[in-house]
Amino acid sequence: MTIAIHESALIRHFNTRKETLRMWEEKIGCRFSPFRGFKMPDSRLYVEHPDFLDAIVDLVLTNERHIFLRGTVGSGKSTLMLLALRDLPTLADRRGNKFITGYVGMTGLYEKQMAAAIADSLRIKYRRSWESSQIIEAVAEECLRRYIEENSRTALFIEDVADNQEAAFHKLRFLADLPTEEMIEEHPDPLDEPIVTLIMSGTAEYWNAMLNFLPQIADRTEPLDVPPLDDAKAKEFIGRRIAYARGTIDEFDKKDFDISPFSDEAIEIINDAAGGNPRDIRMLARGCQQVAAENLKQRGDPAVGREIASLVADAYDTILREVR
Ligand SMILES: Nc1ncnc2c1ncn2[C@@H]1O[C@H](COP(=O)(O)OP(=O)(O)O)[C@@H](O)[C@H]1O
Ligand SMILES: [Mg+2]
Repeated sequence: MTIAIHESALIRHFNTRKETLRMWEEKIGCRFSPFRGFKMPDSRLYVEHPDFLDAIVDLVLTNERHIFLRGTVGSGKSTLMLLALRDLPTLADRRGNKFITGYVGMTGLYEKQMAAAIADSLRIKYRRSWESSQIIEAVAEECLRRYIEENSRTALFIEDVADNQEAAFHKLRFLADLPTEEMIEEHPDPLDEPIVTLIMSGTAEYWNAMLNFLPQIADRTEPLDVPPLDDAKAKEFIGRRIAYARGTIDEFDKKDFDISPFSDEAIEIINDAAGGNPRDIRMLARGCQQVAAENLKQRGDPAVGREIASLVADAYDTILREVR
């Protein structure tokens, strides 16, 4: 009996809260919260870093180094990988080689799971009964064949690479070192460049661990730091999300867009607290929405100005620091 009363009070509380947020969204012409987290974010929400993306792609094209995209959680590593994945198949390197791409997004993989995930991502067939070394041999052979017969190098993207089991790294290292001495000896034409490029991601801590435990790969890998969003990009980030929730994202103009009810100053405060990390900008903006929605209910004003942004930034400061 008591439980039922508490439950209904709780539910009532949540419903009121939801209703308050809903009113704010409606007031600013949105169909849902602009700061909702999406499992598969729409690419129209992406704020592009064209120079940084070019730097990644240029490194892949020159084929001298593997790449490690380095950044905190939420800084945009996965997003940048998706953008690079989108561009690579349309390009060719200075020798005229095209690219075949593979993407391994799962982590926590054992040796055999890693081998299978790589083969799957590159659409290379193998038997379930095979050992991981057989699977990876098949991958190596097929990458060589694609290189020789199809003029295609392989670009393999591996997310949060250090979150996999140590044994899985041997598979990666084997691919990173291709072609093997044996392949070079057996092949009539000179095989004088790597045929598989790794594009890995992870945090700075993991990069340091890799330097210590896997110097064989790390020595040939270029770490690239994901750039934080500057204030202009943070505004675009919020502007795109508001336009998306209003249903006007297809008319979004990077040079002229609406961020109301946010003020410029509010976004600068949010971005400062978030350190330019898009995931944190989104969390802070959602915090601002909650405070602004209460204000709307009490005073009829949906604005997110300096005061609300500072309030939320201070409250989140501790939390964000702990998450990092
Ligand atoms: N350049 C960007 N433009 C818009 N949203 C971004 C951008 N980079 C990251 N995000 C968003 O921020 C969140 C975290 O990004 P993600 O790429 O998953 O980071 P990481 O892989 O570094 O943890 C996601 O919701 C993503 O959509
Ligand atoms: Mg990620």
